[in-house]
This record gives sequence, C-alpha cells and structure tokens, in this order.
Amino acid sequence: MTERCHGDTRPPAGPRARTAIVLAAAALLAATSAAFLPTTASAGTTLGASAAEKGRYFGTAVAASRLSDNAYTTILNREFNMVTAENEMKMNATEPQQGRFSYGAAEQIVNHARSRGMSVRGHTLAWHSQQPGWMESMSGSALRQAMLNHVTQVATHFRGQVVAWDVVNEAFADGSSGGRRDSNLQRTGNDWIEAAFRAADAADPNAKLCYNDYNTDNWTHAKTQGVYNMVRDFKARGVPIDCVGFQSHFNNNSPYVSNYRTTLSSFAALGVDVQITELDIQGAPANTYRSVVEDCMAVPRCNGITVWGIRDSDSWLASQTPLLFNSNGSKKAAYDAVLAALNNGPAVPTTAPPTSVPPTTAPPTTAPPTTAPPTTPPPGGGCSATLQDSTRWGDRFNSQVTVSGASNWSVVVAVTPPQKVSATWNGSPSWDGSGNVMTMRSNGSGNVFGFTTMANGNWTRPQVLSCTAS
Ligand code: XIL
Repeated sequence: MTERCHGDTRPPAGPRARTAIVLAAAALLAATSAAFLPTTASAGTTLGASAAEKGRYFGTAVAASRLSDNAYTTILNREFNMVTAENEMKMNATEPQQGRFSYGAAEQIVNHARSRGMSVRGHTLAWHSQQPGWMESMSGSALRQAMLNHVTQVATHFRGQVVAWDVVNEAFADGSSGGRRDSNLQRTGNDWIEAAFRAADAADPNAKLCYNDYNTDNWTHAKTQGVYNMVRDFKARGVPIDCVGFQSHFNNNSPYVSNYRTTLSSFAALGVDVQITELDIQGAPANTYRSVVEDCMAVPRCNGITVWGIRDSDSWLASQTPLLFNSNGSKKAAYDAVLAALNNGPAVPTTAPPTSVPPTTAPPTTAPPTTAPPTTPPPGGGCSATLQDSTRWGDRFNSQVTVSGASNWSVVVAVTPPQKVSATWNGSPSWDGSGNVMTMRSNGSGNVFGFTTMANGNWTRPQVLSCTAS
C-alpha cells in the first residue's frame, strides 16, 4: 500500500518524501538480497539483543541525574539499545527562557547512549504539559510561532542524533468525545499538530516523526478512534507522520485489554510504524508483560518497546512497582517473561515489500555485501573467527561470528563509518575511541556472538581484524 492509495493524487512533496523514496529503494535492495541469506536462530540473553535479533529495539526512559549511579548504568548498558530522556528534552528543559536553549542534561543522555551504540528517541517537541512558564502564559499567533520555533530549533539541534521524535504528545481528550484536548496549543487552531509535524520534517528530514499518547490502547475507546482518524487523515493529505507511540501506562483504572493487538495492527495498516513508548504495568504481572510483548511481536510494524524506567525505584509511579527490575536491580518474573517473548517471537519479515512509495529513483550505487565466503582473519594467538551475514533489514543488518580454537577469546571487529554497531549479543563488547572498532570478549555464552550494524547508507560487511586466546 502506498500513501497515494488513501486518495491523495498529488505527488509527495518535501524532504520526507524524498527520503522515503531512497529508503524504499534501499529496503527493496536489502529485501531482494536478504532472501538469499541464511538467518540465525540463536536466542539473545538481554532485552536489547533479543529485540535486535528480531529487527526491533528495546528501550528505557533515562534520567540524567541517575547516570552517576553505577548499579543503574550497569543495567542500562547491558540490557537496552534505545533510550528516551525521561524529562530532559521536554519544552521546559530545552527552552527555559524564550529563545535561550539549554541542552546540557539532554546531551548527557544522548552522549551516554550513542557512545555505547544505543539509539535515542526524542521526547517531546510539543505538549500541553511541562511547558516553560513563559510559554504557559502565551496564546494565539505568538504562541503558535513560539511553538514552531521551538520545534525547529530543538529538532535541528539533535538532527542526526535522534532516530525518532515524539513530535506531539497527548493532544487528545480522555473520555467519550474522541476529540482534541483543550490546551493553549489547541486554541491556536486545530492545525497546530500538522504544523508541528511539518516544522519537524523540515528541521530533521531523516528522523521518524511520531504522534504519542496514552489511553489509546483499547481499540473500542473514543480516544483511540480519534487518534486513528487523525493519522488516517494525515496520511491521506501527505502530512509527514511516520509512527504512532502508545505510552501504555497500564494500571487498575486503565488496564491492558486483549484488543491491544488489534489497535497496534490497525494503526500499522495506515502505513505508520507503531511503538510502545512508555510501558509500565501496575504490579508488573509477568503474564501481562508477556502479552504486551507478544502483541507487538505479532505486528511487523511494531518495531520497538520502551519501558518507562529501569528499576521500580526509578519509576514515576514507584509505589505501583510497575517495572522489570526490583529496586535492588534484580530481575523480576516480568523480565523473564519479556525476554522469552522476545526470543520466541517472529523476526520482522525481511522480504516484506517497501511500505512507502515504490522506488522511482536509481538504487544506491553502493552494493550491499554479497554472499561471498566468510572472511577468514589472519591467525591470532591460538584462535580464529569467521564472520557471516545474517538477517538484513532496510536500514541495518546482523552479523554472526563463530570462534574456534579457544573458549576464552577476544575478537576485534571493525565496521566502516558511518556504520554503527547498535546491539550485540553473547559477548562483552568494548569500543575504541572512534566507535568503529569493537573488541568482543567471551562472556561464557559460547563461541558464537552476534551484533547489529546500522548501515547508515554503507552496506560493507564488517571485518574481523584479529582473534586472540586468553
Ligand atoms: C513523566 C516523568 O516520568 C516524570 O518524571 C515527570 O515528573 C512527569 O512526566 N507521559 C509522558 C511522559 O509522555 O513524559 C511522562 O513522564 C509520563 C506520562
């Protein structure tokens, strides 16, 4: 299905449309060659690696103030491959005084994440809540201008560092109306949301642009239908929207319901990615966590899950103990259920047709890696390592390295800039200063490790530089 199937006869316009064509071309190319590649079935042992093996991410909200807590960062660095700033990218944090932007705390989080191969979701550019005081008291065209300037400035500042933005957060009303929430932004005119998306598109044409909300999980709810109708309308009119975020704060008043999967797949059928963006569940029942993950895995365009904090003590709803780790950092039963559901789930189909407009431009000139025999590295101190291609997606690919000759090994692998390793499994990675050379050490998980490389336009196969027995 293409955007034009929704009744729009105009050609897609603007930077996003151009990106979509290139991405579609790359996806088609990748899909074509992926059909000839073997896939791996090794189970991951951390949330991020298990999700990455299935073409998805597993993220968490991060508070800059907690980055000095060693127990916190140990879990963060081990388990997650996507990060959302819990408060540090909100309007009150990034523009505390009008026209004076402040990015220190946000950058701390972005740098922590990106230097370790994690990606970043931006949260959030426009919202009725957590506005700076100067904005709260504004209205009319002055507010509209200030909001658009904020979107432009912040999206421009983080261009290239944020894979997806919650452009607009929580703009729909609770209850039975199915309409917009009253707010100072809404009172600037009903088109404020699309204006924000167009400004974000112009500022960062490559970031995925999402609408994000809560209480939109139950397919029968008026609010869910209201958001659905807006997204359908945006797709029909060519408003640049790529994804819908479901906060999914589940509790006794707003419980998980079994039609959640219908909600996710119905939105996906509009031609957007869907993501679970702020998951927490009162009491953290393992069965409910399992169901949520299974629902996402059942929808090919559900490409990531983010929990809203790491340990219960980090949660904004700490008394509900809604997260995957106890306050002492130990894994809860819900953690095991989530990990198993990720490992048991299907991979995003690599042979799926491009979901955007078919390519009308020439495919990229850089050829993807071929299925040539695996690289044989120069012999190291008593071991050897061979690298094989495995699953491939439109923007990234997995590689698998098999080590022989030693059980305690250390393998050095290089990727080609601007490639970046975004996830690893079955080994302990460390990076050199450039971030392009990874040393993977055995961690007791056996003699096969794997990693995901974000292609960033370059599909060269990573190279094994050495294997050393220790
Ligand atoms: C919450 C943070 O977790 C708290 O620290 C803060 O005090 C209030 O905001 N929906 C959202 C998130 O989109 O930004 C909110 O985060 C939780 C609800």
